[in-house]
Amino acid sequence: MGNRTEQSAPEHVAIIMDGNGRWAQARGKPRLFGHHAGARRVREIVESCPDLGVKYLTIFAFSTENWKRTQTEVSGLMKLFKRYLMSETKELVSSGVCVRFIGDRIKLDETLVALMDDLELLTCNNDKVHLTIALNYGGRDEVARATKRLAREVAAGRIDPEDVDDETLARFLDTYVLPDPDLVIRTSGEARISNFLLWQSAYAEYKFIDTLWPDFTRDEFASVLANYSTRERRYGAVPG
Ligand code: IPE
Ligand code: IPE
Ligand code: MG
Repeated sequence: MGNRTEQSAPEHVAIIMDGNGRWAQARGKPRLFGHHAGARRVREIVESCPDLGVKYLTIFAFSTENWKRTQTEVSGLMKLFKRYLMSETKELVSSGVCVRFIGDRIKLDETLVALMDDLELLTCNNDKVHLTIALNYGGRDEVARATKRLAREVAAGRIDPEDVDDETLARFLDTYVLPDPDLVIRTSGEARISNFLLWQSAYAEYKFIDTLWPDFTRDEFASVLANYSTRERRYGAVPG
Protein backbone atom coordinates (compact mmCIF):
# COMPACT_ATOMS: atom_id res chain seq x y z
CA MET A 1 0.00 0.00 0.00
CA GLY A 2 1.35 3.39 -0.93
CA ASN A 3 1.00 6.11 1.62
CA ARG A 4 -1.23 8.37 -0.40
CA THR A 5 -1.42 11.84 0.99
CA GLU A 6 -4.65 13.78 0.58
CA GLN A 7 -4.35 16.77 -1.72
CA SER A 8 -5.36 20.04 -0.24
CA ALA A 9 -7.85 22.12 -2.23
CA PRO A 10 -6.58 23.09 -5.67
CA GLU A 11 -5.06 26.54 -5.58
CA HIS A 12 -6.01 27.22 -9.18
CA VAL A 13 -9.14 25.84 -10.85
CA ALA A 14 -9.86 26.48 -14.52
CA ILE A 15 -13.31 25.87 -16.00
CA ILE A 16 -14.43 25.31 -19.58
CA MET A 17 -18.00 26.55 -19.19
CA ASP A 18 -19.67 24.47 -21.89
CA GLY A 19 -23.25 23.53 -22.70
CA ASN A 20 -25.14 26.83 -22.76
CA GLY A 21 -26.45 26.20 -26.27
CA ARG A 22 -27.76 22.72 -25.48
CA TRP A 23 -29.31 23.98 -22.25
CA ALA A 24 -31.30 26.56 -24.21
CA GLN A 25 -32.16 24.10 -26.98
CA ALA A 26 -33.61 21.67 -24.44
CA ARG A 27 -36.00 24.45 -23.45
CA GLY A 28 -36.90 25.38 -27.01
CA LYS A 29 -35.11 28.72 -26.66
CA PRO A 30 -32.45 30.47 -28.74
CA ARG A 31 -28.81 29.78 -27.87
CA LEU A 32 -28.35 33.24 -26.43
CA PHE A 33 -30.91 32.44 -23.76
CA GLY A 34 -28.49 29.75 -22.60
CA HIS A 35 -25.57 32.17 -22.60
CA HIS A 36 -27.49 34.54 -20.34
CA ALA A 37 -28.33 31.68 -17.96
CA GLY A 38 -24.65 30.65 -18.07
CA ALA A 39 -23.48 34.14 -17.18
CA ARG A 40 -25.78 34.16 -14.15
CA ARG A 41 -24.04 31.01 -12.87
CA VAL A 42 -20.64 32.60 -12.70
CA ARG A 43 -21.20 34.70 -9.58
CA GLU A 44 -22.18 31.75 -7.38
CA ILE A 45 -19.05 29.85 -8.38
CA VAL A 46 -16.73 32.84 -7.89
CA GLU A 47 -18.27 33.59 -4.50
CA SER A 48 -17.85 30.02 -3.32
CA CYS A 49 -14.08 30.05 -3.95
CA PRO A 50 -12.83 31.49 -0.64
CA ASP A 51 -14.83 28.96 1.42
CA LEU A 52 -13.69 26.10 -0.78
CA GLY A 53 -10.05 27.12 -0.56
CA VAL A 54 -9.67 28.12 -4.23
CA LYS A 55 -7.48 31.18 -4.68
CA TYR A 56 -7.39 31.35 -8.49
CA LEU A 57 -10.33 30.70 -10.78
CA THR A 58 -9.96 30.92 -14.55
CA ILE A 59 -13.03 30.69 -16.77
CA PHE A 60 -13.24 30.18 -20.53
CA ALA A 61 -15.78 32.66 -21.87
CA PHE A 62 -14.96 32.90 -25.59
CA SER A 63 -12.38 31.06 -27.67
CA THR A 64 -10.41 32.20 -30.71
CA GLU A 65 -12.49 29.60 -32.59
CA ASN A 66 -15.86 30.87 -31.40
CA TRP A 67 -15.86 33.58 -34.12
CA LYS A 68 -16.96 30.75 -36.44
CA ARG A 69 -20.45 30.95 -34.94
CA THR A 70 -23.27 32.93 -36.52
CA GLN A 71 -23.08 36.69 -36.50
CA THR A 72 -26.18 36.76 -34.28
CA GLU A 73 -24.58 34.56 -31.65
CA VAL A 74 -21.20 36.31 -31.73
CA SER A 75 -22.66 39.81 -31.47
CA GLY A 76 -25.11 38.66 -28.81
CA LEU A 77 -22.22 37.24 -26.80
CA MET A 78 -20.18 40.45 -27.14
CA LYS A 79 -23.18 42.45 -25.96
CA LEU A 80 -23.63 40.06 -23.06
CA PHE A 81 -19.96 40.42 -22.03
CA LYS A 82 -20.33 44.21 -21.95
CA ARG A 83 -23.54 44.08 -19.96
CA TYR A 84 -22.08 41.51 -17.63
CA LEU A 85 -18.93 43.49 -16.88
CA MET A 86 -20.95 46.64 -16.25
CA SER A 87 -23.44 44.94 -13.97
CA GLU A 88 -20.90 42.92 -11.99
CA THR A 89 -18.22 45.57 -11.45
CA LYS A 90 -19.52 46.88 -8.13
CA GLU A 91 -19.98 43.42 -6.67
CA LEU A 92 -16.55 42.21 -7.83
CA VAL A 93 -14.80 45.26 -6.41
CA SER A 94 -16.53 45.03 -3.03
CA SER A 95 -16.19 41.28 -2.65
CA GLY A 96 -12.41 41.36 -2.99
CA VAL A 97 -12.13 39.73 -6.41
CA CYS A 98 -9.09 40.62 -8.50
CA VAL A 99 -10.10 40.33 -12.17
CA ARG A 100 -7.76 39.73 -15.10
CA PHE A 101 -8.37 38.92 -18.74
CA ILE A 102 -6.34 36.62 -20.94
CA GLY A 103 -6.63 36.30 -24.70
CA ASP A 104 -6.02 38.59 -27.64
CA ARG A 105 -7.82 41.91 -27.21
CA ILE A 106 -7.03 43.09 -30.72
CA LYS A 107 -10.18 41.59 -32.26
CA LEU A 108 -12.51 42.84 -29.50
CA ASP A 109 -14.36 46.11 -29.86
CA GLU A 110 -13.00 49.11 -28.05
CA THR A 111 -15.98 49.61 -25.70
CA LEU A 112 -15.52 46.07 -24.44
CA VAL A 113 -11.74 46.46 -24.10
CA ALA A 114 -12.24 49.71 -22.16
CA LEU A 115 -14.57 47.90 -19.73
CA MET A 116 -12.01 45.11 -19.35
CA ASP A 117 -9.20 47.60 -18.66
CA ASP A 118 -11.34 49.47 -16.12
CA LEU A 119 -12.30 46.33 -14.27
CA GLU A 120 -8.67 45.17 -14.07
CA LEU A 121 -7.62 48.54 -12.72
CA LEU A 122 -10.48 48.82 -10.24
CA THR A 123 -9.85 45.37 -8.78
CA CYS A 124 -6.06 45.15 -8.97
CA ASN A 125 -5.56 45.62 -5.24
CA ASN A 126 -8.02 42.86 -4.34
CA ASP A 127 -6.62 39.55 -3.20
CA LYS A 128 -9.45 37.35 -1.93
CA VAL A 129 -9.99 35.51 -5.19
CA HIS A 130 -8.14 35.94 -8.47
CA LEU A 131 -10.63 35.61 -11.29
CA THR A 132 -9.21 35.32 -14.80
CA ILE A 133 -11.59 35.54 -17.72
CA ALA A 134 -10.39 34.03 -20.99
CA LEU A 135 -11.93 36.13 -23.75
CA ASN A 136 -10.88 35.63 -27.36
CA TYR A 137 -8.44 33.15 -25.88
CA GLY A 138 -6.78 30.21 -27.62
CA GLY A 139 -3.83 28.29 -26.22
CA ARG A 140 -2.03 28.06 -29.56
CA ASP A 141 -2.69 31.70 -30.31
CA GLU A 142 -1.29 32.62 -26.90
CA VAL A 143 1.91 30.61 -27.48
CA ALA A 144 2.28 32.15 -30.96
CA ARG A 145 1.86 35.70 -29.57
CA ALA A 146 4.32 34.93 -26.76
CA THR A 147 6.83 33.55 -29.26
CA LYS A 148 6.52 36.66 -31.38
CA ARG A 149 7.33 38.90 -28.42
CA LEU A 150 10.17 36.66 -27.31
CA ALA A 151 11.59 36.69 -30.86
CA ARG A 152 11.55 40.48 -30.80
CA GLU A 153 13.60 40.47 -27.60
CA VAL A 154 16.07 38.04 -29.16
CA ALA A 155 16.28 40.13 -32.34
CA ALA A 156 16.94 43.24 -30.24
CA GLY A 157 19.79 41.44 -28.50
CA ARG A 158 18.14 41.52 -25.07
CA ILE A 159 17.78 37.75 -24.79
CA ASP A 160 20.39 35.20 -25.84
CA PRO A 161 18.68 32.31 -27.71
CA GLU A 162 20.90 29.93 -25.74
CA ASP A 163 19.21 31.10 -22.54
CA VAL A 164 15.69 30.36 -23.73
CA ASP A 165 14.00 27.62 -21.73
CA ASP A 166 10.41 26.87 -20.78
CA GLU A 167 10.42 29.46 -18.01
CA THR A 168 11.56 32.12 -20.46
CA LEU A 169 8.62 31.42 -22.73
CA ALA A 170 6.19 31.24 -19.80
CA ARG A 171 7.09 34.83 -18.92
CA PHE A 172 5.68 35.96 -22.26
CA LEU A 173 2.35 34.14 -21.90
CA ASP A 174 -0.84 36.01 -20.95
CA THR A 175 -0.84 34.02 -17.71
CA TYR A 176 2.65 35.06 -16.58
CA VAL A 177 1.42 36.18 -13.13
CA LEU A 178 -0.70 33.08 -12.48
CA PRO A 179 0.26 29.70 -11.07
CA ASP A 180 -0.49 26.75 -13.38
CA PRO A 181 -3.99 25.30 -13.00
CA ASP A 182 -4.20 22.32 -10.65
CA LEU A 183 -7.60 21.24 -11.85
CA VAL A 184 -9.43 21.82 -15.15
CA ILE A 185 -13.18 21.18 -15.15
CA ARG A 186 -15.26 20.91 -18.30
CA THR A 187 -19.03 20.79 -18.15
CA SER A 188 -21.49 19.38 -20.72
CA GLY A 189 -20.05 15.91 -21.26
CA GLU A 190 -17.44 16.82 -23.87
CA ALA A 191 -14.05 15.31 -23.07
CA ARG A 192 -11.70 17.66 -24.90
CA ILE A 193 -9.78 20.80 -24.06
CA SER A 194 -10.66 22.91 -27.10
CA ASN A 195 -7.43 24.96 -27.08
CA PHE A 196 -7.71 26.03 -23.42
CA LEU A 197 -4.53 26.68 -21.38
CA LEU A 198 -2.51 24.17 -23.41
CA TRP A 199 0.87 25.12 -22.00
CA GLN A 200 -0.27 25.76 -18.44
CA SER A 201 -2.22 22.51 -18.03
CA ALA A 202 0.76 20.24 -18.64
CA TYR A 203 0.27 18.65 -15.21
CA ALA A 204 -3.29 19.67 -14.41
CA GLU A 205 -5.84 17.14 -13.25
CA TYR A 206 -8.94 17.01 -15.46
CA LYS A 207 -12.57 16.50 -14.55
CA PHE A 208 -15.20 16.15 -17.23
CA ILE A 209 -18.77 16.30 -15.98
CA ASP A 210 -22.08 15.88 -17.78
CA THR A 211 -23.90 18.83 -16.21
CA LEU A 212 -24.54 21.69 -18.62
CA TRP A 213 -22.90 24.91 -17.46
CA PRO A 214 -26.14 26.79 -16.57
CA ASP A 215 -26.99 23.93 -14.16
CA PHE A 216 -23.58 23.83 -12.45
CA THR A 217 -23.99 24.67 -8.77
CA ARG A 218 -21.77 25.45 -5.83
CA ASP A 219 -22.57 22.01 -4.39
CA GLU A 220 -21.42 20.25 -7.53
CA PHE A 221 -18.31 22.43 -7.58
CA ALA A 222 -17.60 21.36 -3.99
CA SER A 223 -17.99 17.70 -4.89
CA VAL A 224 -15.61 18.02 -7.86
CA LEU A 225 -13.07 19.58 -5.50
CA ALA A 226 -13.56 16.74 -3.02
CA ASN A 227 -12.85 14.25 -5.80
CA TYR A 228 -9.67 16.13 -6.69
CA SER A 229 -8.45 15.81 -3.13
CA THR A 230 -8.33 12.01 -3.47
CA ARG A 231 -6.02 12.07 -6.47
CA GLU A 232 -2.34 11.42 -6.41
CA ARG A 233 -0.23 13.79 -8.49
CA ARG A 234 3.13 12.37 -9.47
CA TYR A 235 4.68 14.82 -11.91
CA GLY A 236 6.60 12.02 -13.54
CA ALA A 237 8.18 10.75 -10.35
CA VAL A 238 7.70 7.40 -8.64
CA PRO A 239 5.41 7.78 -5.61
CA GLY A 240 7.39 7.46 -2.41
C1 IPE B 1 -20.24 27.48 -24.03
O1 IPE B 1 -21.47 26.97 -24.40
C2 IPE B 1 -20.17 28.98 -24.17
C3 IPE B 1 -19.36 29.44 -25.31
C4 IPE B 1 -18.64 28.70 -26.08
C5 IPE B 1 -19.39 30.88 -25.58
P1 IPE B 1 -21.77 26.56 -25.91
O2 IPE B 1 -22.33 27.74 -26.63
O3 IPE B 1 -20.58 25.96 -26.55
O4 IPE B 1 -22.90 25.48 -25.69
P2 IPE B 1 -23.08 24.12 -26.52
O5 IPE B 1 -21.78 23.38 -26.44
O6 IPE B 1 -23.41 24.50 -27.93
O7 IPE B 1 -24.20 23.43 -25.82
C1 IPE C 1 -14.98 25.90 -25.63
O1 IPE C 1 -16.26 25.45 -25.92
C2 IPE C 1 -14.98 27.38 -25.51
C3 IPE C 1 -15.70 27.95 -24.37
C4 IPE C 1 -16.29 27.28 -23.42
C5 IPE C 1 -15.70 29.39 -24.31
P1 IPE C 1 -16.73 25.16 -27.42
O2 IPE C 1 -18.15 24.73 -27.34
O3 IPE C 1 -16.43 26.32 -28.29
O4 IPE C 1 -15.78 23.96 -27.86
P2 IPE C 1 -16.00 22.84 -28.97
O5 IPE C 1 -16.36 23.54 -30.24
O6 IPE C 1 -17.11 21.96 -28.50
O7 IPE C 1 -14.70 22.13 -29.03
MG1 MG D 1 -19.88 24.09 -26.67
